[in-house]
Amino acid sequence: MSILAARMIGSGSYLPEQILSNAELAGRLDTTDEWIRTRTGITERRIAAPGEYTSDLALKAAQRALQMADVSAETLDFILLATTTPDLVFPATAVRVQRKLGVKRQIPAFDLQAVCAGFIYGLSMADSLIRSGAARRVLVIGAETMSRAVDWQDRSTCILFGDGAGAVVLEATEEPQRGILSTHLYADGQYEDLLRTQGGISHGILLDPASGSGFLQMRGNEVFKQAVKALEEIVDVTLAANGLDKSQIDWLVPHQANIRIIQSTAKRLGMTMERVVMTVDRHGNTSAASVPLALDEAVRDGRIQPGHLLLLEAFGGGFTWGSALVRW
Ligand code: ACO
Repeated sequence: MSILAARMIGSGSYLPEQILSNAELAGRLDTTDEWIRTRTGITERRIAAPGEYTSDLALKAAQRALQMADVSAETLDFILLATTTPDLVFPATAVRVQRKLGVKRQIPAFDLQAVCAGFIYGLSMADSLIRSGAARRVLVIGAETMSRAVDWQDRSTCILFGDGAGAVVLEATEEPQRGILSTHLYADGQYEDLLRTQGGISHGILLDPASGSGFLQMRGNEVFKQAVKALEEIVDVTLAANGLDKSQIDWLVPHQANIRIIQSTAKRLGMTMERVVMTVDRHGNTSAASVPLALDEAVRDGRIQPGHLLLLEAFGGGFTWGSALVRW
């Protein structure tokens, strides 16, 4: 059998119950609902409960994706989990999800770390595994507890992020022009100082809420400019590689960092915002989880229909960025 593509056969997502509104943040920090909404488009975000870990969010999203795909976890050949906020340094959160799913087969499972672009990187890896014949069915998850990577005293970063998880099940298909049509991945390490955490195991600096050390730091304005530029370029590269005109894209499913970045990408595609899947208002930036969360929402509410052409894109720390063109 000649395998031609990796088709998405199910999606799922999960958000923690606790909602943190801009108004609540304005009660604790020198900020306002108006500032947050106009600069970012965010009105609220979800926060994982104490004792609720990235693997718990990932598990629920994965179970929902498997349910939509109508396949059992036992039939998976590979689990890829994109996260910047793993449960532990090791074992990998993906392996914990394998156990929690009750998968007894000794399939490969590992985490990949490309910050907000992690899910797109995961799709690209899964696509390669399936096209090469190394795997027939792959679970790709993006899951984060970003609320634990930010300093809640730093108004310039903590207002941006939220927790959540999204997942897709990919399967080998012989149908041409179905599933993942192309992926493009990039990284450029020269911008590390604009967006990074100050702590980590090898640096010997642990995240410490009392002193505020170790947490995420960002020069937002400069990141913003680089994100807009990189995403505009990747839209052009993706369309050219597939010989497509921008009018042929049915849905833009972007990383949800900032409404103004999303609007600029939509403008490049000549798209009205009605054809852009937006969750940033309710989810904030959930890093690697943001694209699969948005995708699942639009699949479940019926906006995305079989045969639709989707452009998925993300940009994040590293910098890392990427796109995936998908025929649903
Ligand atoms: N409330 C009120 N004022 C604030 C707040 C706040 N929460 N945060 C910052 N300010 C102030 C600043 O101190 C500054 O004040 P000053 O002019 O007196 O110095 C002013 O607001 C403007 O600050 P800027 O940083 O220039 O604001 P900007 O318009 O750039 O918006 C934002 C900031 C929202 C962070 C924006 O730059 C952005 O979204 N950047 C991109 C983020 C991104 O895409 N990151 C990549 C993904 S994340 C990842 O990979 C982990």
